[in-house]
Amino acid sequence: MKHCKIVIAGGTGFIGQEMIKHFGKENNIIVLTRQLPDASNNRNRYNSLNVAALKNVKFIKWDGKEVAEWCNEINGADLIINLAGKSVNCRYTEQNKKEILDSRIDAVNAIATAIKKCSTPPSCWINASSATIYRHAQDRPQDEYTGEFHSGFSVNVCKAWENAFFNQQTPGTRKIALRMAITLGPGGVLIPYFNLLKLGLGGKQGSGKQMYSWIHIKDTCRMIEWITENENIEGTFNCSSPNPVTNKHFMQTLRNVTGYTIGLPAFEWMLKIGAVIIGTETELVLKSRWVIPTKITETGFQFKYPLLEDALKDIISEVPRKQYRLF
Ligand SMILES: NC(=O)c1ccc[n+]([C@@H]2O[C@H](COP(=O)([O-])OP(=O)(O)OC[C@H]3O[C@@H](n4cnc5c(N)ncnc54)[C@H](OP(=O)(O)O)[C@@H]3O)[C@@H](O)[C@H]2O)c1
Repeated sequence: MKHCKIVIAGGTGFIGQEMIKHFGKENNIIVLTRQLPDASNNRNRYNSLNVAALKNVKFIKWDGKEVAEWCNEINGADLIINLAGKSVNCRYTEQNKKEILDSRIDAVNAIATAIKKCSTPPSCWINASSATIYRHAQDRPQDEYTGEFHSGFSVNVCKAWENAFFNQQTPGTRKIALRMAITLGPGGVLIPYFNLLKLGLGGKQGSGKQMYSWIHIKDTCRMIEWITENENIEGTFNCSSPNPVTNKHFMQTLRNVTGYTIGLPAFEWMLKIGAVIIGTETELVLKSRWVIPTKITETGFQFKYPLLEDALKDIISEVPRKQYRLF
């Protein structure tokens, strides 16, 4: 993709930063953020980007709720990608649950309202969703045709998020919801795993039999390019590698590529205590996510990193050794 105008709402997080790196050299990027980068927050918030060096990237303030001047920025865009939403990596208190849901619905509605005001609406709108929309599955893989949802907080959030997105009428703007699996790259979810490795806790979590659906961030970006360039693609797509693994297999592969021979397992009771201490939920590691990307494969998309070992080797080659090894 070249010479495109790409707007990324919530583009300051892990996935957004990787997308800026991927698309930012040959396209014009506009990032919608609640807090503009400056000298005081640059180091902490834009940890994988050198903001000053990003000539094609412009940061524009929004609040994720109301239409304001930022609306002008999406006029004539080739693509808008919406990643905005409170992180799910927190305790599911009533207040956090409300914020997780509201932030996602509000951002979708604000973008839709802005699109409706455009004289030249964006050609394509890709909205984040999550592969966690599918039920805990240990019996069979879940795809877009035969996958089942059941219920529960995170499933309900994803359903409401997708409904809000598809209920918005934006003729002239093609819409795609990406049900993203755990996205692997030189940051994000791998950082806590690196910390576990360093503590000697790089073994399986819980039974280790729960499925782990993943995707290399580079394939996520390539999928976005593919979708943008193929104008007949719209609707809902799983954004996951075609080869999910068990949690035990994931941890074993991670140990292999980072040079650890052993790693102690974390039993379910340990995870429950640990989750309270570090302010997260065990669901994030214990839910069996068994998701396969049937629809995107049918369109002819080819993964560069279909296998976990290749994906992790590539990612580790970009990570400073001190992040995953004590010495
Ligand atoms: N990472 C994964 O493996 C994964 C898997 C499945 C789905 N997803 C979904 O994909 C999206 C992006 O993931 P990510 O890992 O990049 O997330 P992230 O690092 O948490 O970044 C999300 C961004 O959303 C914005 N945001 C946070 N709270 C907000 C609020 N209350 N209102 C409006 N904006 C808010 C923030 O930008 P500002 O502070 O600059 O405004 C933040 O940088 C998320 O919606 C996530 O649920 C991620």
